[in-house]
Amino acid sequence: MKPHHIWSHCDIATCLPDASSGYGLIRDGALVIQGDKVAWVGPRSQLPEIYQGPASVHHDAQGTLMTPGLIDCHTHLVYGGQRANEFELRLKGASYEEVARAGGGIVATVRATREADEASLAAQSARRLSALLKEGVTTVEIKSGYGLAFEHEAKCLRVARALGEQYPVTVRTTFLGAHAVPPEFAGRSDDYIDAVVAMMPALVQQGLVDAVDAFCDGIGFSPAQTERVFAQAKRLGLPVKLHAEQLSDSDGAALAARYQALSCDHLEWLSERGSQAMAAAGTVAVLLPGAFYFLRETRLPPVALLRAHQVPMAISTDCNPGSSPCTSLLLMLNMACTLFRLTPEEALQGVTRNAARALGLADRGTLVAGQRADVVLWDVQSPAELCYAIGANPRRQTLVGGVAVQV
Ligand code: NIG
Ligand code: FE
Repeated sequence: MKPHHIWSHCDIATCLPDASSGYGLIRDGALVIQGDKVAWVGPRSQLPEIYQGPASVHHDAQGTLMTPGLIDCHTHLVYGGQRANEFELRLKGASYEEVARAGGGIVATVRATREADEASLAAQSARRLSALLKEGVTTVEIKSGYGLAFEHEAKCLRVARALGEQYPVTVRTTFLGAHAVPPEFAGRSDDYIDAVVAMMPALVQQGLVDAVDAFCDGIGFSPAQTERVFAQAKRLGLPVKLHAEQLSDSDGAALAARYQALSCDHLEWLSERGSQAMAAAGTVAVLLPGAFYFLRETRLPPVALLRAHQVPMAISTDCNPGSSPCTSLLLMLNMACTLFRLTPEEALQGVTRNAARALGLADRGTLVAGQRADVVLWDVQSPAELCYAIGANPRRQTLVGGVAVQV
């Protein structure tokens, strides 16, 4: 039998809401790990005797706060190059849409990504991944969408998978072929959607895809085009997600909900109807304060509506070179509170329990018996402190599958 590892001398934010808070806070708690799973969690004073024998290994958490490993459930972190020039253009008055329509935007990153070989893409992306891990991320979703041709989409997804092998993190991959129309299909977006649909079976067969996403927007794809991608995902047995209602209301959320989407993301322009549809389908709302901030949007996502319909909210970096060149999930916690007025309890749930749900992962996101032992120890006195500080990184220690890792 594998030994029990007992961590004590810490407060534990299980992130399973209870009567007193959304943190599920246990003061002076103990967490028992066996193998890669949590075996028991509760107040130290109630630690069952079976765990107290000489066969147990004791660890002193030294007064830290323990949380589940953080989950960044929406990133585009595998890409080539950067787009600081567009940042400058926008500061001179151009809008994000104007830059995109003038051949910059996503398509500029597509050029740089196609030019990069696998080793160079991996090296560039690893730096971003590493920054996330240093802040306690133990699960990350990575989308394709800067290749936009079979060979380059496959390359990016392979790089994402390889990062998950090389670093102590679970990587979930999402195919976002319908991110933008590549130059060779300019003016023929329906033909490009045919190509996207045709790419999917082989990518799935190569084990490169966990979920399928699309960018449904005026500068992206129409609901009808999005639906063709979703229909193919359904045929292949893959769950869907959607970049929806970011720059306008295309009614994408309701469409995604019809396909039982795991999540709809961005959502600044989400309508009441969309919100109701998401609630009925159990779809998570992934809010992306980095993109809102960086594009200087003024329209806030309808948080009150999401609360009223009890749509679970997740928070993510949206790490990408155009709208959110961000590798700090802790900063997103702060921005979710300051910009979107989420409570720290909602924000922390948004990078743990609800982020797991946005990825369809039932085995993580809370610290309760049976869950994966992905755990972070923080040098803070209260969970709210993780949301409150700007630019601090109080991470002391990360355990992945019960094992202490260096990041
Ligand atoms: O999530 N909205 C579409 N995609 C990205 C931005 C991509 C880019 O500008 O490179 C996003 O915001
Ligand atoms: Fe995105």
